[in-house]
Amino acid sequence: MYLLFLFLLFPTVFSLNQDGFILQQVKLSLDDPDSYLSSWNSNDASPCRWSGVSCAGDFSSVTSVDLSSANLAGPFPSVICRLSNLAHLSLYNNSINSTLPLNIAACKSLQTLDLSQNLLTGELPQTLADIPTLVHLDLTGNNFSGDIPASFGKFENLEVLSLVYNLLDGTIPPFLGNISTLKMLNLSYNPFSPSRIPPEFGNLTNLEVMWLTECHLVGQIPDSLGQLSKLVDLDLALNDLVGHIPPSLGGLTNVVQIELYNNSLTGEIPPELGNLKSLRLLDASMNQLTGKIPDELCRVPLESLNLYENNLEGELPASIALSPNLYEIRIFGNRLTGGLPKDLGLNSPLRWLDVSENEFSGDLPADLCAKGELEELLIIHNSFSGVIPESLADCRSLTRIRLAYNRFSGSVPTGFWGLPHVNLLELVNNSFSGEISKSIGGASNLSLLILSNNEFTGSLPEEIGSLDNLNQLSASGNKFSGSLPDSLMSLGELGTLDLHGNQFSGELTSGIKSWKKLNELNLADNEFTGKIPDEIGTLSVLNYLDLSGNMFSGKIPVSLQSLKLNQLNLSYNRLSGDLPPSLAKDMYKNSFIGNPGLCGDIKGLCGSENEAKKRGYVWLLRSIFVLAAMVLLAGVAWFYFKYRTFKKARAMERSKWTLMSFHKLGFGEHEILESLDEDNVIGAGASGKVYKVVLTNGETVAVKRLWTGSVKETGDCDPEKGYKPGVQDEAFEAEVETLGKIRHKNIVKLWCCCSTRDCKLLVYEYMPNGSLGDLLHSSKGGMLGWQTRFKIILDAAEGLSYLHHDSVPPIVHRDIKSNNILIDGDYGARVADFGVAKAVDLTGKAPKSMSVIAGSCGYIAPEYAYTLRVNEKSDIYSFGVVILEIVTRKRPVDPELGEKDLVKWVCSTLDQKGIEHVIDPKLDSCFKEEISKILNVGLLCTSPLPINRPSMRRVVKMLQEIGGGDEDSLHKIRDDKDGKLTPYYNEDTSDQGSIA
Ligand SMILES: *[C@@H]1O[C@H](CO)[C@@H](O)[C@H](O)[C@H]1NC(C)=O
Ligand SMILES: *[C@@H]1O[C@H](CO)[C@@H](O)[C@H](O)[C@H]1NC(C)=O
Repeated sequence: MYLLFLFLLFPTVFSLNQDGFILQQVKLSLDDPDSYLSSWNSNDASPCRWSGVSCAGDFSSVTSVDLSSANLAGPFPSVICRLSNLAHLSLYNNSINSTLPLNIAACKSLQTLDLSQNLLTGELPQTLADIPTLVHLDLTGNNFSGDIPASFGKFENLEVLSLVYNLLDGTIPPFLGNISTLKMLNLSYNPFSPSRIPPEFGNLTNLEVMWLTECHLVGQIPDSLGQLSKLVDLDLALNDLVGHIPPSLGGLTNVVQIELYNNSLTGEIPPELGNLKSLRLLDASMNQLTGKIPDELCRVPLESLNLYENNLEGELPASIALSPNLYEIRIFGNRLTGGLPKDLGLNSPLRWLDVSENEFSGDLPADLCAKGELEELLIIHNSFSGVIPESLADCRSLTRIRLAYNRFSGSVPTGFWGLPHVNLLELVNNSFSGEISKSIGGASNLSLLILSNNEFTGSLPEEIGSLDNLNQLSASGNKFSGSLPDSLMSLGELGTLDLHGNQFSGELTSGIKSWKKLNELNLADNEFTGKIPDEIGTLSVLNYLDLSGNMFSGKIPVSLQSLKLNQLNLSYNRLSGDLPPSLAKDMYKNSFIGNPGLCGDIKGLCGSENEAKKRGYVWLLRSIFVLAAMVLLAGVAWFYFKYRTFKKARAMERSKWTLMSFHKLGFGEHEILESLDEDNVIGAGASGKVYKVVLTNGETVAVKRLWTGSVKETGDCDPEKGYKPGVQDEAFEAEVETLGKIRHKNIVKLWCCCSTRDCKLLVYEYMPNGSLGDLLHSSKGGMLGWQTRFKIILDAAEGLSYLHHDSVPPIVHRDIKSNNILIDGDYGARVADFGVAKAVDLTGKAPKSMSVIAGSCGYIAPEYAYTLRVNEKSDIYSFGVVILEIVTRKRPVDPELGEKDLVKWVCSTLDQKGIEHVIDPKLDSCFKEEISKILNVGLLCTSPLPINRPSMRRVVKMLQEIGGGDEDSLHKIRDDKDGKLTPYYNEDTSDQGSIA
């Protein structure tokens, strides 16, 4: 109405005022794909109603422009500074991609400048400090680099300075301590050069937030910080700070949150922190603190106390239980002793309690769940004793319960079995007794029930069959008895059923065919009877089957042949009849012993009398053979001696070679031996030299010579530096053993091997393009187009998938790296070098662990650090590194990446700078989408937890789908990954290494 009225009053059309004209120029300079600025209409009289624009009054000058999250792109619109009364400017979250020009100072009335989350580059303009009115400066999340300009010490009214997530690489300057008006100093996540925290920051007496996470801080925390009496949040986490926590921090009378985690702080927690009456969160985990938790700290109304992975010792003060707000206590991985305070949980709504891996003893406090909020009770690896308090049986909030490796005893309270939200119940290695209550039927979320090594008795209740989500039931090493309830056999989600070492009896029924997801079935050492049901052959993902030490009788079902078993043990039963032929393999040679009625084409079966007679014959035959051999040898020796007198040494050499071939050969060993010229060397490494040999039939082969045994002075085999006796012999055998048997298009062919006492040769098909590593990191590397690289990734994945899933026995390569992936003439890839490969042990019960660490720097999966257990998941990690290597064309360990390995570098660069900074710039950007999908697969394969890595079979599938452009599956991959990007220090780390 008002407008209309004006319009009638002034019949002529207004022309746009000065400010509106300036904003039109701003509009013209920006790329606006979403037409965010469509309301900026040049026919209006005034810009005051345009979106994002505010004026002092309807027709007066513009005071504020807010274009946040408008998807605008282009250079910083300097012209905007001609708005003479502009006080607030926000371009937050756009794609402003220029430098910030020096003439920004022309915005002389600015109070707020928010340019965070853009693509600004270059140095911070020192002229910013010339804007006298500036109060709020936020440049978070850009690409600013270089130093913080000295002029920044001269801000007169600045209250907020936020430079988080940029590329600033100078030091943190003391002059920031001059900005006495400052309330917020946020410099986190910049690659600063090592800096001390300037003591001058103690002059910032108005400061409320000091956020200096991951700023490469060194040295000690200055005492002067204790003067910051208005400070609310002090965050110095993820730096290299040393020394003590200064007692002066007791002067931070308003502080709510102190984060010091992941530094190298030493000494005790100062009791002065007990003065901090508003402190709610103290996280000093992952330092090297010692001593006990001071009593004084417990007077603080803490909500969260994280002190894990220090060297704290002594007892937890009883007064901590008086804290009225404490809901989270994580103090795992220290050396704390004594009992937990009796009243813990009584006054505070305790939600998470993790005191694992300490030396606590005594009873569990009865009131942990008094407020009804306890969700996680994690106390593994302590010396707690007594019974589970009856009160916990009503704690319906519980989701994770881990009481393993303590000294608990007595029976588990009835209600405790049936808590409705519990997902994990782990009681391993205690002395619990009594029966599993029928109330367990109420635990409808239970997925992992782990009761091994206790003294439980009775039978499994029928109700256990109603736990539809049950994935693992491990109850080995108890005194359970009776037959398995029928309902158990209908559990379709069950992956592991381990009941070995009990007194179970009865029969397995055909009902077991519902165990569609069963991976591991271990019923060893019980008293089961009856036949092994035929249906066992339908459990298609079963790969671990141990029924040994029972009284199973009848025939071994033929259907068993259709399973791909890594472990099969039917020994010591009463099985009879014929062994199904495909089970009569060397790898199963111990799987059937102790079944007197069982016959088959395998050593040790079919009655012991026969066996003894046979042995008699064998002995006789052997003696005859040995005698004959000796005569023959004597003859040969004599002949050889004669021969030697008139033949030259070189010819003699040749006769000593023994040849073993795995394919039909069109050449002989002499031809190869003669061509081993130094001129033909195409590679050399710690294990030996590789020669390229062109044979007379036109074929080319690669010959690898390994050094072994004792070395003659004048022979062809000269010792090399780095030669380790014994190791090479093993490598040679491993290579011959595994590779000789394999036929797959993506696995390098071993034609034959020849050996003498001194020297061993492996003859492979020749790969004209050498190794992926050499190719990728040579000058030619940049020329490898995306499609070629993708094919290499897919080929290698197929080769590895064959080793893991299709070869019998499955093979873990253990040294996947780009140098062990060879490239043929058509840029197809083949997996090579099986020197440390291991067939997964199928016979012994021993865990699949290795005595030595294999693998190459930068490719080794993180779990190697705490366990030598190797499985295919470690290969998958290494393969993930290869993917990242191919996409980034950076080496897994490279000075260019700084402290980080490739995996960490990719993750942090992705987070901080985006995918463009990760992908090899030589790759054609039109494949960007596909490349980023492959990168996601690489990241998935390098998940820190082995369990999160996909199998190779799935990897191949994902790659094929990406190649075929199947969108759906890719969203899934992304989602998978997104779920796991939480920083690891937030996880319950004590929880990870311990699931056995
Ligand atoms: C900045 O963004 C604009 C608009 O998208 C684009 O045309 C220009 O090339 C970019 N400039 C730089 C240096 O990236
Ligand atoms: C600032 O701090 C330094 C070192 O802590 C001190 O020497 C100096 O006197 C302080 N300046 C002011 C103005 O308080």
